[in-house]
Amino acid sequence: MKITASRTSLGEISEDVLIVPVFEGETPRDSDNASALAALDHLTRGAIASLFDEGEMTGKLDSSVLLQNVGPFSTKRLLLYGAGKADDIDSVSVRRLSGAAIRAILKHRVIRSAAFLVTRKLESEALAQAIVEGALVGQMSSDLYRAKDESTAEIEALDLISELPEPPDFDRAIKAGSAMGEATNYARGLGFEPSNVMTPTELADRAQKMANGEGLAFEALGEDEMKRLGMGALLAVSRGSTEPARLIVLKYEPDGEQAGASSDLIALVGKGITFDSGGISIKPAARMEEMKYDMCGGAAVIGAMQVIARLRPNVRVIGVVPASENLPSGRAVKPGDVVRSFSGKTIEVVNTDAEGRLILADAITYAINNGATCVVDAATLTGACVVALGETRAAVMGSNQQLIDDLVAAGEQCGERLWQLPLDDAYGDIIKSDIADVKNVGNRTAGSITAGFFLKHFAGTVPWAHLDIAGTAWIENEKPYLVKGATGFGVRLLANFVLNRAKAQDKE
Ligand code: BES
Ligand code: ZN
Ligand code: ZN
Repeated sequence: MKITASRTSLGEISEDVLIVPVFEGETPRDSDNASALAALDHLTRGAIASLFDEGEMTGKLDSSVLLQNVGPFSTKRLLLYGAGKADDIDSVSVRRLSGAAIRAILKHRVIRSAAFLVTRKLESEALAQAIVEGALVGQMSSDLYRAKDESTAEIEALDLISELPEPPDFDRAIKAGSAMGEATNYARGLGFEPSNVMTPTELADRAQKMANGEGLAFEALGEDEMKRLGMGALLAVSRGSTEPARLIVLKYEPDGEQAGASSDLIALVGKGITFDSGGISIKPAARMEEMKYDMCGGAAVIGAMQVIARLRPNVRVIGVVPASENLPSGRAVKPGDVVRSFSGKTIEVVNTDAEGRLILADAITYAINNGATCVVDAATLTGACVVALGETRAAVMGSNQQLIDDLVAAGEQCGERLWQLPLDDAYGDIIKSDIADVKNVGNRTAGSITAGFFLKHFAGTVPWAHLDIAGTAWIENEKPYLVKGATGFGVRLLANFVLNRAKAQDKE
């Protein structure tokens, strides 16, 4: 989707459709705050006013009316899209509005280009960015492998039309919004791929291609290297599979004159289990197919690195994605086995289905050994998190309250919301092992927290936080603004977190 901004007057729009957001209470007759509607009514010789008069358009959220061939327009269609209450305007609601409007016009398969009227209520740079993000994310479909007929819908061009004499900086909004939206879709695309395609090797190859295109340093350790280093936890998980594991590493360095200003190195670590059968502690068959999305933490990290490469914050960042399958076989790790992690700590593997924390343990140690001064991991880690928080919020926990607060704030900013869970020392007692330094599961209680506590053992004294995105990475039902399936949750959150950190540091 090519996204532009212009100041074309309403009568001269050449796109296939003009999208007009309508807030509750707005009418063409209320000329104070609805000048665009009045102007459109004039151009359509009263067609708009009659819709309002008859109560066909009230601005109710996600209601819509499509008008064809009205008035002396160069555009053929007008989509009035219900935006809900004007009091609720924020970047989250605007992102949804724009995504939903794009999805509404995609149903009319002939529409190829759209103009979006940025009305006075939407006049900030942040909201313009939200329009761009929403449109990109809303446009994506999930039928990667369905035969496509020629008329498969795609909006090729989107033009933001401003009513204002001096509109906000649309170019900056388009740049940031495109980076965020495209990376979100990129991560979603990785999540949608079936596991026979998206193997650890494929995930590494895709990350390499992205890194080469965006100017990030790339490296992927293979199993020989992992053995040499002593990554016994990651290797234990991959043992059961014939697909070799990879440790994907992406590095971002700020540009020339910015570089070296700080010794900070932010590590983003993402769980990349390309299929989680549970291993010897095998999962039930029902919905096991969904476990192809167990690499969405890794995808979020790779996507966030893409945003970072494009928007170039002034801080060093390393992305680390341990990628592996988790399968049962004659070679697979078994319940009761003890493995030695990269950190030197020994782990009793009581349940092979708690594999994410094993691969993350070694990846966190890798990040710290490489100089990370702060570690944030993202993982579809526990079913308990899905039960506790559902699809709406991800869990956050960690060793440093400032880091957690910064992540929560970044999440609020972009609508990828978090909820903090505690990590009192008492939870650590649940995962004490009789035979090793720690065991990989506890009892039935506090499943998300004990998983987090396990990771804490490997973060040591480095400020660390963990995001459990098991519930938010994948949605069961479509939304007006989003298809069902992979959401890309974490891409914008992690990218915003890094951008905010860099900005705060520049101010110091
Ligand atoms: N990948 C799963 C967690 C998961 C479950 C993600 C549902 C998304 C949806 C993870 O590896 C897992 O299997 N966790 C176990 C841990 C248990 C054995 C302590 C779980 O949550 O059941
Ligand atoms: Zn598992
Ligand atoms: Zn898993």
